[in-house]
Order: sequence, then C-alpha cells, then structure tokens
Amino acid sequence: MAVSRKAFLRILGGGIVVAAGAAIAVPRLDAMPAVAVEGWRGPGPDETDPRRRALAWALLAPNPHNLQSWAVDLSQPGAIVLHVDAARLLSQTDPFSRQILIGHGCFLEILGLAAAADGYRTEVTLFPEGAWSLDRPVARVVFTRQSGLAVDPLFAEVPRRRTVKGGFDARPLEAAHKALLLSGYAAAQLPLVLVDDAESVDRLRALAIAGSEMEMNTPRTHKESIDVVRIGAAEIAAHRDGISLKGPMIWALRQAGQMTPAKAMTPGTLAWDGGRDYALAGYTSARAFGWITSADNARPTQIATGRAFVRLQLAATALGVALQPHSQTLQEYPEMAALRTAMHRQTGTPAGATLQMFFRLGYAADPGPSPRRALNSFVTA
Ligand SMILES: Cc1cc2nc3c(=O)[nH]c(=O)nc-3n(C[C@H](O)[C@H](O)[C@H](O)COP(=O)(O)O)c2cc1C
Repeated sequence: MAVSRKAFLRILGGGIVVAAGAAIAVPRLDAMPAVAVEGWRGPGPDETDPRRRALAWALLAPNPHNLQSWAVDLSQPGAIVLHVDAARLLSQTDPFSRQILIGHGCFLEILGLAAAADGYRTEVTLFPEGAWSLDRPVARVVFTRQSGLAVDPLFAEVPRRRTVKGGFDARPLEAAHKALLLSGYAAAQLPLVLVDDAESVDRLRALAIAGSEMEMNTPRTHKESIDVVRIGAAEIAAHRDGISLKGPMIWALRQAGQMTPAKAMTPGTLAWDGGRDYALAGYTSARAFGWITSADNARPTQIATGRAFVRLQLAATALGVALQPHSQTLQEYPEMAALRTAMHRQTGTPAGATLQMFFRLGYAADPGPSPRRALNSFVTA
C-alpha cells in the first residue's frame, strides 16, 4: 500500500516532521528482515550432523530479552556441551541468572523434542562439572540413534510458537482451553496456576503494571532493556537478537530523530512514553494470568522450570492461545523487593518458594517470528 505524505503524517498524529517523498510503501518500512528470521525454517538440507539438526530447532527457544545466551561445544563426538555465553547476561534485572537458566531449560527441552523427531535419544547430564558457574557447563547431552522413538506432537508447534507482546483480543480464555492447558501440564513438582476471574486478574494486572513501571523508572534496569533494543531493519539484521522495534511507525520516528536509545531512556519523549504505553496496553488487555512456582530455587529447578514452561507455551500454541511472560515483578533487585513480595502474596506463593514464571494468556494475531542468530554464531566444533 502506498500512502500520501499527508495521510502518513496523519497516521503519526501531526507533531512529527517526516522527511519523506510523496508516496511511501508503508508495509515494508523497517519490516522484519528475512535473514533475521531464516532460522524458523529449521535445519537446512545440508545439515547432516544430528546434533546440529537438533540445535537448529533448539535455538528457537524462548529466552530472556532474546539474548540467546547459549554457547555450544561440539568437540566431543556424539555429544553437545552447553554453556551460558558470559557476554549475554542481564546483570541488573536478572542478577542471579535465574531467568537465563530458565531459557536454557527451554533450549534443552526443544533440543530433546527435535532429536527424538530425528530418531535420536538424548541423555542429559545437568551441570556435569559441578555447581553451575559461568566457566562450567549447564549440560552435556549425548545423542544415541534409536529406532521407534515417538515424535512428541508438541515438536510440530516449535516453529509456530511466539511470544505475543502486543495487546490481546477482548475474548476471555476459553474454559476448555484452560482445562486442556492444566490437564496437559505434567511437571507436578512445579505447580501451575491459571486464573481468569475478574477480581484476581485486576489485582495481578495492577502488580504487573507497577513492576513494569518500576523497571522503566529505575534507570540502570531500564537501560538494560534499551541496550538490547534493535531499532529498525538494519540493526535487527545486524544483531538478530534483543528486542526488535520495527514497522512504519518506528521508521517514521527514526527519520524524525525521535527513536534513539537516548530518547528511549528519557521519560516524556515519544520513545519512552510509547514504550510504556505499548507494554501497558498488553497488561490492560489481559483476561487471564498464569504462573509456575517451585519449592526451591536450585539451578536444576530453574532448568526444569524452563522445560515445563516451554511445553506449556507449545501446548498453548497448538490451541491458538497466546502467551506472554511478565518477569519484571518477579525480579531480584532491591528496588523491586516490595512489589515482588506483593506478587508472591497475590499468587499465593508460599514463604521460601519461588515464583519462577508469570504470564498472561489470551488470543491475538500472530505477530510473526522474532530474530535468531545463525547456528554457527554460537557453536564451536
Ligand atoms: C525466563 C524468561 C523470561 C521472559 N520474560 C519476558 C518478559 O518479561 N516480557 C516479555 O515480553 N517476554 C519475556 N520473555 C519472552 C522473551 O522475550 C522471548 O522469548 C524472546 O523475545 C524471543 O521471542 P519468541 O519467544 O517470540 O521467540 C521471557 C522468556 C523467558 C524464557
């Protein structure tokens, strides 16, 4: 679609001067670059190593801020050794790397699903060199050929799974969908709760909004997000990670000098206010929330949480249910402590237990895939 400059300025709401020609092909401006999402097609036909084939699916796992902080060593035949990439952490908002480890759990779960679909059994040894630290691996996974392995139906959902960050439809969560998500959830030691009664949803929404505002109004935690925001198609294609800002509106704001990291750090700018409004619109539209808790907060439990969470998200994908995690109010930095306590109380998380994942559920159009780095960028042979 081409629009006249006048119409385009009306879309922007006036105030912004846009140096643009008479006609603009609006839908393609700052669209998601194809190279950034090529990974969603899975392994190419030239991939013959079963480990690399499974990794090509595992890299599609959900993970905090889409940092994709995995580093894989393939030097041992028939095995992969998975590390956390020490350059891809969230030290302010995830000071204990709890969320990073949950992301690795998601990665290991999809790795196992993909290997099985390809005819390989995987045996996972967590923390094979002892308690996790940045210089010790998260897992060693041995691949063994085995005939007759069942293909988990959730594997088919891997390329369709999305984190929906925008607003949801007004439609409430269907009772049948809620029941299927609960009955299909198998991680008994990591209790799952789903709520959709208006009173609980309103209280949880208020806490989620307060947590988001706390993060945005705490410069060092907000900066951690801004540092990984990729603004426009060229930046997205160059990094293939982080938080993607794309589309005609972002393009226009960029042209007008209104969408820069510095502006996004400054309350009162279009960039800061727009970011807050976007996040809050998501919570405002939430009609159901869910959460996963654990009795302890040990590293293996964080991995198990990631495994359980991604299975839940894949099951939701199969049902057409959209899901977005909300992590802000769960985070372990001092300024968030009071809200975190309130969130624990509101979710009935017992003293000493950990609220590992919190999310909203509903229905929404497919936002399209998020970027992924190339397999070779995190694998060493
Ligand atoms: C532990 C964890 C925490 C996350 N927290 C948030 C969050 O607070 N807000 C959000 O929008 N997405 C959150 N996500 C989702 C990621 O942002 C998302 O997986 C990533 O951007 C890649 O997008 P995709 O899931 O669509 O592939 C989280 C994911 C994980 C695994």
